[in-house]
Amino acid sequence: MTSTVSEGEAAVDGGGRALAVTPTAGHLGATVEGLDLAAGIDDATRDRLVGMLDEHLVVHIPGQAIDDDQQLALALRFGGPYIHPLARGSSTEARCEHIVDDVDHPPYQDEWHTDVSWDEAPPTYGTLRAVDLPPRGGDTIFVNTYAAFEALSPTMQGLLEPLTARHTMGAGKAFVSKMGPEIVAKVREQFPGAEHPVVGVHPGTGRRFLNVNRGFTESIVGLTDAESTALLEMLFAHVTNPNFHYRHQWSLGDVVIWDERCTQHFAVADYMPHRREMGRCVVRV
Ligand code: SIN
Repeated sequence: MTSTVSEGEAAVDGGGRALAVTPTAGHLGATVEGLDLAAGIDDATRDRLVGMLDEHLVVHIPGQAIDDDQQLALALRFGGPYIHPLARGSSTEARCEHIVDDVDHPPYQDEWHTDVSWDEAPPTYGTLRAVDLPPRGGDTIFVNTYAAFEALSPTMQGLLEPLTARHTMGAGKAFVSKMGPEIVAKVREQFPGAEHPVVGVHPGTGRRFLNVNRGFTESIVGLTDAESTALLEMLFAHVTNPNFHYRHQWSLGDVVIWDERCTQHFAVADYMPHRREMGRCVVRV
């Protein structure tokens, strides 16, 4: 599905309200105004948002006053519940998790990653809402991995096309610091890792994207360690090119929805000793 909305154009949601859609960076990101998420979204509005996500990958909806239940309800309009493997031991119900970073629990998402790519069936869409923000800093940077793939030479694209990569939780130091070593060891046994194509094909747009991330991609199947490391290091460095990025500077009331498949993100950890709290719900289609 593709959106018919282009820069600065007004669209109409399912309830007939005008939506103003403004792209925010060259390759991804759009701000959408005119939505009241507390009132919920109907099917037509959801479909419009999916179209915007197909086109812009990251959609920013400012000025919202929603709580955890409303954020969960919003996320569930885009897919079925996804419970993080680290939470599955204690919860069988989807809920809005809170990422709380402060002096006692320092931030750990300052690494390029696609959420839980070490799961065989990782989440499809992510939602984040700013709950408590530091006075400055704490931005989230997103990369368009279609653009990253398309910027590679046709020869490199062809070389990557048939390859598969192994994704794991890695050392999990960050998870250990938040969850404790016992839970992480147990989850590691249950989720030893997953293999995914190095070049993903998005089912909605049919476009190819680069599908390896520094956070969780351990190796490329069938290559020697030296070959795998060299190739992955080149690709990890490639996605850090700001040409492919959108940097979101948070304000209270912001809700951001993104397509997990064709993006990676990096939570900038530049605000210690201040506190930052985000509500996060992810879903799987
Ligand atoms: C995440 O990495 O999933 C969270 C990003 C953020 O807190 O900005």
